[in-house]
Amino acid sequence: MMQSKSSTGLHVAIIMDGNGRWATVRGLPRVSGHRAGVTAVRRVVEHAPGLGIRALTLYAFSSDNWARPPQEVQSIFWIIRAFLRLECERLRQQGARLEVIGRRDRIPLPLLREIERTESITAEGGSLHLRIAIDYSAQTSIAVALATAASQTSRHQPLSAESVRAIVTHTLTAGSGNVDLLIRTGGEQRLSDFLLWESAYAELVFTPRMWPDFDESDLAAALGDFNHRERRFGAIPSSLDQSAPSLMENAQ
Ligand code: IPE
Ligand code: IPE
Ligand code: MG
Repeated sequence: MMQSKSSTGLHVAIIMDGNGRWATVRGLPRVSGHRAGVTAVRRVVEHAPGLGIRALTLYAFSSDNWARPPQEVQSIFWIIRAFLRLECERLRQQGARLEVIGRRDRIPLPLLREIERTESITAEGGSLHLRIAIDYSAQTSIAVALATAASQTSRHQPLSAESVRAIVTHTLTAGSGNVDLLIRTGGEQRLSDFLLWESAYAELVFTPRMWPDFDESDLAAALGDFNHRERRFGAIPSSLDQSAPSLMENAQ
């Protein structure tokens, strides 16, 4: 499945990790790190379109983060809600369209209302598709997409694996496409159940920078790194592929 670099912009996904450690080394409570992380979100969202990013998916709260102390979980939700309330108008003016991905049935009602309000106010935004992953698990998303596929199959006419794959791909990527570049801050080198399907051919950049310190120059550096990668999608480098021109010659 060949894909070229999109001419309409990149889909960048970021695992915003390191808030807690950023705070702890400063003798601050972990929640201060989450608060400081919001500033980094603002910076990245503001500079993303200028750097050629059309879709930006930010991992804010994983379904496994429910395992944290309830107070930290509550604080994170409160901080996200405040961010949406304060930034909604700026997002709209900037032409950003917000979409929250993940489960919605466990999100506290005040945050859920703020999400729905921001999504509706920014719905026409065309300069950046900003996706924030809250109560998100890639495995759960894939399972839900598989269930959609299963509902379209019957005992007498089972879907082929290719059809199931097409349905899952459509369900997961119709809105924003596959991930081109996946960045994780905070020094860990793992995916923590983030966009597993959509990142099948993503280029990965791991940086030791803690999320609250991440700024536009770090984002530009990650994109610079990305631009030097050769994406092959299973093929061989085009410079070595001598079959393409001769095939064309044969066709003429
Ligand atoms: C990422 O920072 C934010 C969330 C997971 C909500 P962490 O809170 O995981 O920060 P560290 O990894 O403990 O430093
Ligand atoms: C991943 O970070 C989730 C978010 C950044 C929201 P975690 O800090 O939860 O991941 P692990 O536990 O180190 O894998
Ligand atoms: Mg972490």
